[in-house]
Amino acid sequence: MSPIVSDSRLPHIKGSIFATMTRAAKKYGAVNLSQGFPDFAPDQRLLDALSEAVQGNHNQYGLPEGSETLRQSIAHMFQNLYGLGFSAETQITITAGAMQAISAAISSLVHAGEEVIFLSPAFESYEPAILLAGGVPVCVELRAPTFDIDWDEVEESVTRHTRMIVVNSPHNPTGRCWTAVDVDRLARIADQYNLLVLSDEVYHNIVFAPQQHITAFSDTRLRGRTIVVGSLGKTMHVTGWRIGYAIGAPALTNEIRKVLQFNTYAAPTPLQQAMAAVLDDAAYCDLPQLFVQKRNRFLDGLGSSRFSFMPTGGGYFQMLDYSAISELPDTEFANHLIECHGVAGLPMSGFGSQYATSKLLRFCFAKKEETLDTATDILRAI
Ligand SMILES: Cc1ncc(COP(=O)(O)O)c(C=O)c1O
Repeated sequence: MSPIVSDSRLPHIKGSIFATMTRAAKKYGAVNLSQGFPDFAPDQRLLDALSEAVQGNHNQYGLPEGSETLRQSIAHMFQNLYGLGFSAETQITITAGAMQAISAAISSLVHAGEEVIFLSPAFESYEPAILLAGGVPVCVELRAPTFDIDWDEVEESVTRHTRMIVVNSPHNPTGRCWTAVDVDRLARIADQYNLLVLSDEVYHNIVFAPQQHITAFSDTRLRGRTIVVGSLGKTMHVTGWRIGYAIGAPALTNEIRKVLQFNTYAAPTPLQQAMAAVLDDAAYCDLPQLFVQKRNRFLDGLGSSRFSFMPTGGGYFQMLDYSAISELPDTEFANHLIECHGVAGLPMSGFGSQYATSKLLRFCFAKKEETLDTATDILRAI
């Protein structure tokens, strides 16, 4: 008899590296700087609003497109931060995390056999989402140490089958943020070859001066062809609530909503209700300051260590180069750190197997000061 699953839809995809490292950190009681989530409490107002929503009987199915007030709050955030107007009714959709926004955008807009360009190192969900849609992933590699985008190489990867390009700024794992030149090159390519753009901007609220976040929507050539995805879990320090969003032109939004309504139907009602009550300027304007302090504390703590680094430009993460310490490939070194020293970081190869010998690990500094200090005391001594 043939095996019940003889032909995997994702034959080369292994378990999530984030879950693997978090499990290992738990097993060895290591300080977990591997996965991107805060270990500090969210705003008490948010927790109170959730309790009110649940007690107030906001516990039934919501609209598939998401809570109207939450969509309006997101529209307000984009107006406030970037001076751009989006319709809550036709352009903004609430999803179960940015990850669902990514998969819904790809599965609703990419047809079988169409090519999707993504830039590696890449967040781990892009490639499986493309494969599950029947699309063909086309990887353009970014190179250490700067991980700058070679736009000529991106353009050379475009064929007559290319449908979409997936981009990410601030970038996970490198923290690199787009420049105006990047957005201009992206816009020229997308416009010339009539491509869709999926712009993963989940860390848009966390960009460190003198850099500023430049949303893909800032370029008029990109507005009608781009879906921006965001994560309120990141913005409001509650990644486990799994609330994100997709913003795009009405025709694109319409397709995304068709898929979502037969997937989760709608994101959880009380969580959206609570976020809508609290998502105002105070929830996001102070984030760069909060996180730059954490980044600096982490880097100051590593000052006299044997790790080398370039301070990250935005997001939750700092890459550390361990080439002065060990010759081990990155996963082995990450496991060694967990098992022998009690600190968990993420191997760069989790974002592209070609980086296994890059001697780079990613550390999340979205943590309490005492967590960062405990980790840097250990890392400094290695
Ligand atoms: C670049 C990037 N995109 C998307 C996501 C997924 O965000 P969410 O937790 O809202 O699904 C993450 C989460 O770490 C991320 O780092």
